[in-house]
Amino acid sequence: MDWHVEPGAQLRGRLRVPGDKSISHRALMLNAIADGVANIDGLLEGDDCLATRRALESMGVPIERSGEGRYRVTGVGMRGLAAPDGPLDLGNSGTSMRLMSGILAAQSFPTTLTGDRSLSRRPMARVIRPLSAMGANIDGKANRPPLHIEPAERILPVRYGLPVASAQVKSAVLLAALYADGETQVSEPATTRDHTERLLGAMGADLQVDRERGLITLRGPAKLSAVDIDVPGDFSSAVFFVVAALIAAAGELVIERVGVNPTRTGALEVLRLMGADISVDNERDIGGEPVADLTVRRSNLRGADVPASLVPLAIDEFPVLFVAAANAAGTTRFVDIGELRHKESDRIAVMIDGLAALGVDCSATDSTATITGGGYGGAAVDAQDDHRIAMSFAVAALTAAAPLDVRGTETVATSFPGFTDRAGAAGWSIREAAA
Ligand code: S3P
Repeated sequence: MDWHVEPGAQLRGRLRVPGDKSISHRALMLNAIADGVANIDGLLEGDDCLATRRALESMGVPIERSGEGRYRVTGVGMRGLAAPDGPLDLGNSGTSMRLMSGILAAQSFPTTLTGDRSLSRRPMARVIRPLSAMGANIDGKANRPPLHIEPAERILPVRYGLPVASAQVKSAVLLAALYADGETQVSEPATTRDHTERLLGAMGADLQVDRERGLITLRGPAKLSAVDIDVPGDFSSAVFFVVAALIAAAGELVIERVGVNPTRTGALEVLRLMGADISVDNERDIGGEPVADLTVRRSNLRGADVPASLVPLAIDEFPVLFVAAANAAGTTRFVDIGELRHKESDRIAVMIDGLAALGVDCSATDSTATITGGGYGGAAVDAQDDHRIAMSFAVAALTAAAPLDVRGTETVATSFPGFTDRAGAAGWSIREAAA
């Protein structure tokens, strides 16, 4: 599916975005192996989380839907999963594959994990290595999906220093460690999203987090108690509306009930460095996660040097931050962003190619990007089936000198079902283009 976006729209009003993807995956997976029944509200019904749901159901976990975003998961306990009939197809979802590997490495039945074309290209050595060190029997051809997992004699505790800052890898190790007899220690080179730690703590796991040293200690074997979860709006989805309003608001745009866990909101800091006027109001705690309303006013953005320390805290937001940079006066430099090359697409290459096609002055190296703001035109750009890139170019269209067509937008449903409807309600019309 292609989009056609006319420039010049001005955004206004109030909106909510769908539930957080990372929290939704964890709410399903961890409650599936807990004891008890959990009611989940506001679950993201995007394709990625639905892939997690299907995989868990195919291993015997009862998951009932009782309304939009409302689910009831009946935990089967740590040892209650059953062998699925066939391979588990995890679609586009790296989070499903990497987190699920941690749980499946400890099961007494074999599993095969597959995914779509994009997921099949993504690196899995990062989970194969630590899980193998824990005694798991897991491999993939050339360290890519499909992954084959055979039952392990037992899962051992491990001390593991993550070579790259990755919440998915950290979580895979912690989930396997739930089944190990003894103390597992994971250290991260930089803080990454901590939803797994928060939820495991709330479910009764014996877990300590030393933020200062970047050290997480978990003592297994664990027994988890089901917890009800009210999923906050996804900051990573809200950010498309944040940048859209910064470059094209009429008055202000309010995004309500957004998750503002500090391990996720690095993009707010980056945008503020660029001169953005964003207020975070009505901050409250919902089920162990901070939530707030964001008010965004149109701002004259300026270029900035983005500190490397913010990269893991804004890891999914770079495509749209590149668009903010293309709308800023002066040059913005992004460093240490090489991980973006391993996301749903090579996000550095796809964004820089697309921005260059619009006439933006930009360049990249393996792990950096440099973008100079200034006017740009319209063109047809290819999102390469990457949801966040498709939405980023829809944002870019707001200030283009001519209409913009975005190709390959189907995957937007993986993380943000209803994106174009919400955009329309805020005054930003995104039409389906004639193929
Ligand atoms: C996620 C972690 C991030 C992020 C992804 C979701 C998670 O990946 O890009 O969208 O839910 O743990 P990495 O931790 O591999 O960087």
